[in-house]
Amino acid sequence: MKTILIQLDTDPHPSTFDRVVAIDAGAEELFSYGGVTPDNVTGLVHGAMFTRGPGDLKNTAIFIGGSQVEAGEALLKKVTKLFFGPIRVSVMMDSNGSNTTAAAAVRAAARHLDPGHTTAVILGGTGPVGHRAAQILASLGATVHVSSRSKDRAEATCAAIRKVVPEGKVSPCGLGDEALAALEGAQFVIAAGAAGVEFFDEATWSRSKALQVAIDLNAVAPAGLGGIGITDKAVSKDGTIRYGAIGVGGTKMKIHRAAVQKLFESNDAILDTAAIYEIAKTL
Ligand SMILES: NC(=O)c1ccc[n+]([C@@H]2O[C@H](COP(=O)([O-])OP(=O)(O)OC[C@H]3O[C@@H](n4cnc5c(N)ncnc54)[C@H](OP(=O)(O)O)[C@@H]3O)[C@@H](O)[C@H]2O)c1
Repeated sequence: MKTILIQLDTDPHPSTFDRVVAIDAGAEELFSYGGVTPDNVTGLVHGAMFTRGPGDLKNTAIFIGGSQVEAGEALLKKVTKLFFGPIRVSVMMDSNGSNTTAAAAVRAAARHLDPGHTTAVILGGTGPVGHRAAQILASLGATVHVSSRSKDRAEATCAAIRKVVPEGKVSPCGLGDEALAALEGAQFVIAAGAAGVEFFDEATWSRSKALQVAIDLNAVAPAGLGGIGITDKAVSKDGTIRYGAIGVGGTKMKIHRAAVQKLFESNDAILDTAAIYEIAKTL
């Protein structure tokens, strides 16, 4: 029986990036739909649930993507609500690459330190990628400073993380001097700001002597952390290991493909942040 991946994208055009990865991951048939919302998704999900017998349902799976992560989360909630008993299919949510990119950043750092035993600063921590990186780190036991231009937005992100990781040691932090003070005591920093936003120049951020790993996910110049090259991969400079966006990108692609493959192992997997990080750990 052929594997079928049903791509539900919240943008008008289903992402070609996600389509390519689906094929490379081995999905034998790919049905792609754009403009999918909680209000129009029911028929698409019923079509997945009611066509194959319960024993064969693991050959059908759903991928939720699109540029708007909140829209993806709302869609995931609706899709999983439509399932009942054994009549369900596995689902992965990776809107804007948020989960796979965050997992890749934490796994890159794990090559050099134990991310659960660090103090970490996430610059741009309120965005989809930063939020999820902070959530993964908090779930591992790290002390996490979520940095934003707005302390209120940072606190809202921390509150959302505490809902998922009640014991999480997350705290909000401003940008500028407050973030620099947090960096002074941090072993790990991820710059997850919007494309083309520089948080600190190299001389400023690299004053932090505790830092062991610095990861910059920004693929559009200038880098979020000045001096980190886009292709840097475990580049050692001034006592800190550096990764740039493309340096992390290879791992992100591996995680994305492995997660799609995992969908076809059972009919009841829900691959969101935590589950995708668990897959990343096995690679
Ligand atoms: N390497 C990869 O494989 C990969 C994959 C996906 C994404 N990415 C990159 O990862 C980064 C994070 O992605 P994302 O979707 O989470 O980003 P995003 O939502 O566009 O931005 C993240 C945060 O940056 C902050 N920000 C925006 N403009 C700013 C400015 N002018 N000055 C300071 N802060 C600013 C915002 O926080 P506040 O408003 O709260 O300050 C925002 O929440 C992006 O650069 C993206 O291109 C890389």
